[in-house]
Amino acid sequence: MTVLITGGAGYIGSHMVLNLCDKGENVVVLDNLSTGHDWSVDARARLVIGDAGDIETVTALIRREQIDSIIHFAGSIIVPESVVEPLKYYANNTGVSRNLLEAAVNGGVSNFIFSSTAAVYGMTGLEPVAEDSALSPMSPYGRSKMMTEMMIVDAAAAHGFKYGILRYFNVAGADPLARSGQSSSVATHLIKVALQAATGQREGMQIFGTDYETPDGTCIRDYIHVSDLADAHALVLGHLKSGGDSAVFNCGYGHGFSVSEVVSRVKSITGVDFPVSLAARRDGDPPAIIANSARIKTALGWTPAHDDLTQIVTDAFAWEKKLMTRNRKE
Ligand code: UFG
Repeated sequence: MTVLITGGAGYIGSHMVLNLCDKGENVVVLDNLSTGHDWSVDARARLVIGDAGDIETVTALIRREQIDSIIHFAGSIIVPESVVEPLKYYANNTGVSRNLLEAAVNGGVSNFIFSSTAAVYGMTGLEPVAEDSALSPMSPYGRSKMMTEMMIVDAAAAHGFKYGILRYFNVAGADPLARSGQSSSVATHLIKVALQAATGQREGMQIFGTDYETPDGTCIRDYIHVSDLADAHALVLGHLKSGGDSAVFNCGYGHGFSVSEVVSRVKSITGVDFPVSLAARRDGDPPAIIANSARIKTALGWTPAHDDLTQIVTDAFAWEKKLMTRNRKE
């Protein structure tokens, strides 16, 4: 049987492809290449260029390739952009997911794993947040993902497939073997922005907000290495395939770092003291978002292998240098 990975040419999806291909699984990637790159899909997987929201095409693909499980990554992911272009987020995230679910039902798919986000929780604090916390997303991005979670639960109840919903905290880092990484040209995420500053791709960077109720006044986030996140998906897939129940799982380490700490770490690892200016708060940023990941650790034995900010930044830096070389050649 084959696993279909939507968005498999993107950042997290391409790491999922590596994870499953390394385990010898049969993998088909469906990606419209709107933000992903064909070269980031491992050669052991088969890339189909197309839209995950195209019900007929996806239903035919599921039948032709004997897909029994879908891991759905495709979507738009920039929180501030979602405030300016909410309909893009409801189309690309909620609408596409709805159609993909219909195709999954048509094709008789057994397992559906969805890439959700800690943004569904909304205004969180220094206390780690667990899966049964109230959902109160603060952005169209978070709401577009929350709605998709709801559709999955309803569709699974009605049509009998099983689901795993994974709520990611701040995904960062790159494949330790530098086979993939964060490759989008538009960077908004902290570690990527800081690395672009360190490698001279931007003149410097800003720290958004220094007056939060945190020890150093800057926001705290729970940064999870992308390879540990891919492992979490593989565990959930195995759990569902072996008869386990549908479930929602947080994916984070349970401790955070402040923006200032991350910037200092990037400076020390790269050895570059790039300019940093202190700026106003960015709209919609909660002071802290930290995962309570007890559920996935207890239920599935998830044991992160890269819970180390130095490794996260080191792997991301190695990828950034490789990416710059690639971009110069193109
Ligand atoms: N930040 C800066 N300067 C920058 C970029 C970011 O100070 O140039 C700060 C932000 O203000 C925030 C922190 O760094 O305090 C992290 O910001 P990111 O943009 O890297 O990530 P977010 O926490 O906003 O969002 C990420 C994902 C979402 C996910 C969320 C869940 O983008 O998909 O984590 O925690 F929902």
